[in-house]
Amino acid sequence: MNKFTSVNDIGDLKRAVAEAFEIKKNRFAHTALGKNRTAMLVFFNSSLRTRLSTQKAAMNLGMNVMVLDVNQGAWKLETERGVVMDGDKAEHILEAIPVMGSYCDIIGVRAFAGLKDRQADYEERIINQFIEYSGRPVFSMEAATRHPLQSFADLITIEEHKTKPRPKVVMSWAPHPNALPQAVPNSFAEWMNATDYEFVITHPEGYELDPQFTGHARIEYDQRKALEGADFVYAKNWSAYAGDNYGKVLSRDRSWTIDAEKMSLTDNAFFMHCLPVRRNMIVTDEVIESERSLVIPEAANREISAEVVIKRLLEGLNNE
Ligand code: CP
Repeated sequence: MNKFTSVNDIGDLKRAVAEAFEIKKNRFAHTALGKNRTAMLVFFNSSLRTRLSTQKAAMNLGMNVMVLDVNQGAWKLETERGVVMDGDKAEHILEAIPVMGSYCDIIGVRAFAGLKDRQADYEERIINQFIEYSGRPVFSMEAATRHPLQSFADLITIEEHKTKPRPKVVMSWAPHPNALPQAVPNSFAEWMNATDYEFVITHPEGYELDPQFTGHARIEYDQRKALEGADFVYAKNWSAYAGDNYGKVLSRDRSWTIDAEKMSLTDNAFFMHCLPVRRNMIVTDEVIESERSLVIPEAANREISAEVVIKRLLEGLNNE
């Protein structure tokens, strides 16, 4: 593997999950792979889980790790070509990227959608510039349109907890005070569509996601109907994708919050969320603290998904 930005880069999902289970049994089995190799993790946006789990995964593989917070302590970066740089941005990303590449063997990038210009966001301009100009294998730590390390961890978590071969997985929009990107729901949809699970998406009208991600999923505007018989409930907020409403908050309707009464419609479903989560907006205290909540094991599996991905990138380097 020489990059990881979507489900298409991971290949056979059953094989990837099997590899994850193997790594989980012994996360230090491959320390020789990363010896004298350096991972650089570049953050344009804040993180708790991605920062720590990816760093831990790289260390499990014997790597050295450098972390750069672009907006804290580094020069502010201009990301567009042709701009007269007479403002507060001291360095252009087109110099910064190859410089970063010269100090490391692989690069992880977190760069969220700006939610102002849909075309720019959906062209994935920042991570694609890293792929083009760093000269290194690049992996996404959440880009503008996808969060594949999260989706891979979600898949591992579902595979660990499912009790039927083809569980019903429901991704539900839930309210949030702020405008959030579509990366997590896009990516989760893309990964669920690559399985043979029954996959349903529920959201208020106006929150339709890009069909390139939702694919053949059933879209159900009635949340209660969608939740009937669910085995896994994956809650997430996202801002509008469609047309002129791109990036806007259209609703903060708390009747969409996942509570115990909604969970009672399911087949004793597990509750999932990628975290961080706004309690009593997205999900009630009672549900997130219940024994059916998987939010902590799901976050713990971020270390495993990252380790599989970094291991494969290192194997790709060794095969060059
Ligand atoms: N789920 C996730 O990516 O968490 P962070 O934003 O804290 O990294």
